[in-house]
Amino acid sequence: MKDLIDIRDLSPEDLQKLTDTALDIIARPEAYSHLCQGKKLATLFFEPSTRTRLSFEAAMYELGGQVLGFSQANSSSAAKGESVADTARVVECYADIIATRHPLEGAPLVAAINAKIPIINAGDGGHNHPTQTLADLLTIRRRKGRFGHLTIGLCGDLKYGRTVHSLIGAMSRYEGVKFVLISPEELRLPEYVRRDLEQGGIPYEENRDLEDAMPGLDVLYMTRVQRERFASMEEYERLKDSYILTVDKLKNAKPDMCILHPLPRVNEISVLVDSDPRACYFEQALNGKFMRMALILRLLGIPGEKPAQEVPTGEMVPGLRCWNHRCICQVEQELPQRFRRDREGAYRCLYCEALAETE
Ligand code: CP
Repeated sequence: MKDLIDIRDLSPEDLQKLTDTALDIIARPEAYSHLCQGKKLATLFFEPSTRTRLSFEAAMYELGGQVLGFSQANSSSAAKGESVADTARVVECYADIIATRHPLEGAPLVAAINAKIPIINAGDGGHNHPTQTLADLLTIRRRKGRFGHLTIGLCGDLKYGRTVHSLIGAMSRYEGVKFVLISPEELRLPEYVRRDLEQGGIPYEENRDLEDAMPGLDVLYMTRVQRERFASMEEYERLKDSYILTVDKLKNAKPDMCILHPLPRVNEISVLVDSDPRACYFEQALNGKFMRMALILRLLGIPGEKPAQEVPTGEMVPGLRCWNHRCICQVEQELPQRFRRDREGAYRCLYCEALAETE
C-alpha cells in the first residue's frame, strides 16, 4: 500500500498492527522521536481543519521530521486554477509524504494516482476520512478492548458525514458488529455505503429516535450536521438541531458505553456531557495524533521495507458517466472518467463511488 485513500485500503491485520504501534508510541515515545529525521510531511489543506492538520503536524514533529504546507485553498495556486494532479506532482519535489484535505470527493485519489510519494486522504468532501477512523479505532480499542461484537450507533448527519462512512468501512469487517443508524430521513446514509452493508450482509437497523436506540449501544458516534455541505440554508436550519445529546438522554445508556464524536461539535453534545466518564471525544483527538504517527511510519516504510506502489486506476468505460456534482471529475474537466466494479458487478465512479450512469 503506497497511500491511504480509503480505510478499506487497510486490512484488519493492518489496523491491528497500526494500533499496536500507536500503543507502543504512547508507552515509549523516546524510541520514536528520531525515526523521521530528514523527512518532510506536506499538509495540503484546501478545506478548514483544526485536529487533522495540527495532529498530522504534531505527529511529524514528534517523529523528528519537518512540516510544510498550506491551510487554505486561497493561499495556494489552486486559487489560480492549478489542478490537484499538478499540485501533487509539484509538492512531491519538496516533501516525502503528503496529507491532503479537499472539498471535492476523490481529490486525494487523483493526487495519489499522479504522485510517486505516499498520499494520505485527510478528508474528501462528504466521502471519506480514513485517518479519523484510525483515531476512532484506537479509542475503541483502548476503551472496549476489542473491535468485534459491538453495537455501534451512528447519529446525526449520516449523508455528508465522511467520518461515518469510513468508520462503517472499517468496522464492517469485524464479526458481531451491528450498526444502528440514527438520522433524519433527509440525512440517511448514502446509497453506496448502504449498498456495501447490504452486499456484505452486515446487520444494521434504522431508528429515528436516539433515546429509543440508546440502551442497546456499546458505542455512540455523534456527528455534527454539516452546514458547509448543504445547498439550501433553509434545509440546514430545519435539520441542524435534530439530535442533541444531554445528560438526561444518557440515563438509559450502558454504564460502559463509549461516546465518540470526530469534532468539531456545535451543539449536538451538551458540554455537561463532557464530565461523564463515557465521553471519549477529547481522548479520541489525542489518539488521532498517535495513529497518524504510526501511519506516517508505515507509509514511509520506517523501519523496514517501503510498501509497494499500488494505486487503483480503474478503467474507462465508453458510454458511462459519473454525475455526482460533488465529485472531482465534475470540476477538473480533463480528468478522465474512470470506473471500477463493485461486488455485484455494477460500475462505480473510481473517485467518489457513485453508481455510474449512461451518458
Ligand atoms: N475531526 C476532524 O476532522 O476535525 P478537523 O476538521 O478539525 O480536522
